[in-house]
This record gives sequence, C-alpha cells and structure tokens, in this order.
Amino acid sequence: MDSLTGRTAVVTGAASGIGRAITERFAAESMNLVLADVEEGPLASTTAALVGAGARAVAALTDVTSVASVQSLLEVARTEFGNVHVLCNNAGVGPPAEQQLWLNTPNDWRWTFGVNVFGVANGLHVFVPHMVDHGEEGHIVNTSSPDGGIVAMPSAAVYASSKAAVVTMTECLHHQLRELGSRVGASVLLPAGGLLLTGLWTADRNRPEALSRERPRARPPVTAEDFRRHLAEQGHDLPVMALEEVASWVVDGILTDRFWLLPDGMLDDEVRGRAEAIISRKEPYLHRAGI
Ligand SMILES: NC(=O)c1ccc[n+]([C@@H]2O[C@H](COP(=O)([O-])OP(=O)(O)OC[C@H]3O[C@@H](n4cnc5c(N)ncnc54)[C@H](O)[C@@H]3O)[C@@H](O)[C@H]2O)c1
Repeated sequence: MDSLTGRTAVVTGAASGIGRAITERFAAESMNLVLADVEEGPLASTTAALVGAGARAVAALTDVTSVASVQSLLEVARTEFGNVHVLCNNAGVGPPAEQQLWLNTPNDWRWTFGVNVFGVANGLHVFVPHMVDHGEEGHIVNTSSPDGGIVAMPSAAVYASSKAAVVTMTECLHHQLRELGSRVGASVLLPAGGLLLTGLWTADRNRPEALSRERPRARPPVTAEDFRRHLAEQGHDLPVMALEEVASWVVDGILTDRFWLLPDGMLDDEVRGRAEAIISRKEPYLHRAGI
C-alpha cells in the first residue's frame, strides 16, 4: 500500500499488548480503526484513550474463535467506515505450557488452536472475500511468533505448534493472493528482540470455562519475571523490547510490501540453524535462550 492515511484497519486482540501498540501506530497514520477483542473492559478503555487522543476508532467486542462473531466484526467495520483495507489477525493466547508436550490436555490444545489458528482462519474466511472484491489496495498481517514460526521452544510446545501453523497459513495466503492478481498483500509478524511485556503471560484470564483444564497443572504458570530469571540463570540477559517498535515493523512492512515482519539480521542464526538441521537430516535445531 502506498499510504495508510484515511484507510480502515481492523485489529484483533487490540485491547492490550502488541495489538494496542499497532492501533496506536495506525492512529498516528490517521487511519480509521476498528478494535476487536474478547476482553470488554480493556477494549473499552483502549478505544476511549485513542478517541480521546483524536483518533477515529470504534470498539467491537469479538471472539475470534467464532465465525459469527468475526462476521459481526466485518459488519461493524463496514457500517462505521466502509471498505476495510488492513486486517491484523493478532489475537493470541498461550502458552499453557506444561514441561512436556504430552502433559498438555486436549482442552489446552483446543483453546490455544481455537484462538491462535482458527482465529486467524476465521479472519481470513470472513475478510479476504470483502478485501479482494472491493478492489482497493489492502494488506493482511497475521501475528505468529519466532517460537514455532522460526524455531520451536520445547518449553512452550502447544503455543509453538499453533504459531508454526500461522506462518504456513500466511505463506499460502501470500501466494494465493498473488496468483489471483489481487491488490491485497500479506505479511507475518514475528514479534522479537527481547522480552515483550504484554498480557500474554496472563492469557488464562480469557480462557472460556468450557475449555478449562481437565486437571490441575503439574506446575504453576510461568510469569514474565520467572522467564527472565530462568534465562538470566543460563547466562542470557533478555532486554525489554518496546512494543511501539514492533508496531512500527507492521506499518513499514505494509508500506513496503514486506512479507517477514522482523528486522534485517534479527534471528538469522536461528533461521540458518533450523535450515541446516533440516539439510543435515539429523536432529532438529534447539534454541535454548528466549527468542
Ligand atoms: N508477548 C510476546 O512475547 C509475544 C511474542 C511473539 C508473538 N506474540 C503474539 O502477539 C499477539 C498479541 O499478544 P500479546 O503478547 O500482545 O498479548 P496480550 O494478552 O497483551 O494481547 C492479546 C489480546 O488478544 C485478546 N484475545 C484473547 N483471546 C481472544 C479471542 N478469543 N478473541 C479476541 N481476542 C482475544 C486478549 O484479550 C488480548 O487483548 C499474540 O498472537 C501473541 O501470540 C507475543
């Protein structure tokens, strides 16, 4: 896209963390904003803060695991602003990490994949036909993670598996949109560069009762501070990464039609390590530090 000014963006998981930072950055580009999230209070306060700062923004309470809810999100966007030009499938949860993959329960998998994978699939299913058919320039950004998107951290296996799926979905989407000759581009966001202090560490707050764990956890959930301490014990000092900076990768990536939203040089050793491990046909690559 040549310019974002006056265009309309829909961002899921916009109430907090990276999604909130993306909407703030879009507001600075004078975009019309539709903030979608399942958490009503933070959604209302984030939207009110944007509107108070002069942005054109509306909130749409949305559960991305439900196609009907995502369909309503599209209707809100069209009613408020007309055509949608940018969709950020950013809502995500996790990781409900047990030490070993097999200790995670079926509901851990259902919940994580419901939001992280089906949430993206629902966004594509509902929004792509609209964005392709209206014929104006557009862009879709799916949020994955280096954990699974590049190399898997075995300590967060369910989450990593879901984020690997998001990369593959977005690669396929890119090629299909190109093949169609559409004016809609696609990118995958790989938030990285340090510790991201977002609500992901307390994602359980949004876990539906129907998908609660079938049995108590074998270990308590890891907090951001636990994670940082664990890495420090292994000799890795993880800096805090500014969410504004990650949001700027999104804007730059849309304006330059970049697929991989990760700065040049960042995580190249991991990309190479994984590729070389595949080429060697031996063990999978293992990255021990935080990514
Ligand atoms: N924080 C990190 O370290 C990190 C790293 C890489 C990728 N990511 C990804 O970034 C994205 C944003 O996460 P974050 O770190 O900002 O965490 P966050 O918890 O601050 O934001 C996630 C948002 O998604 C919303 N959400 C959860 N379930 C939903 C549902 N069913 N429908 C709609 N909204 C829902 C939450 O309410 C929340 O506002 C996620 O996809 C996450 O996996 C995060």
